Amino acid sequence: MKTKTASFIAAAALLGTVQLSLADDAAANWGKYCASCHAKDGTGKTMMGQKSGVGDYTTAAGQSKFTDAEAIQAITAGKGKMKSFSDRLTPEEIKALVAYVRGLKK
Ligand code: HEC
Repeated sequence: MKTKTASFIAAAALLGTVQLSLADDAAANWGKYCASCHAKDGTGKTMMGQKSGVGDYTTAAGQSKFTDAEAIQAITAGKGKMKSFSDRLTPEEIKALVAYVRGLKK
């Protein structure tokens, strides 16, 4: 029983680490692949962002324009001037980025 509890705690700790590192990756990936258009803070107020017409992800109105599924679709397959990222990001990383985008709302 004791060993079971211990291995459960170990597994839970491991899971926590994996989730944490995915969130870290999302922030890094956002800076690396997305901020050039969507801006570091998600407002879309960059030269490329203004030109390509990206939304403002810091407002409720901007966030309500797309569902999580549409966000996954846009990042995976591309949308408008935004290219597909399926060759550079795994499905897990894309999901983590959607959560990151949702977190940009002020
Ligand atoms: C070349 C500029 C550019 C880059 C780089 C870029 N995007 Fe986009 N993104 C756009 C444009 C343009 C749209 C479509 C906006 C529209 O049609 O309303 C869009 C749409 C989206 C959408 C769908 C929601 C919406 O507003 O339509 C999400 C989510 C998104 N981008 C996230 C990301 C993420 C995450 C990355 C990095 C992996 C990224 N984008 C990189 C320009 C870019």
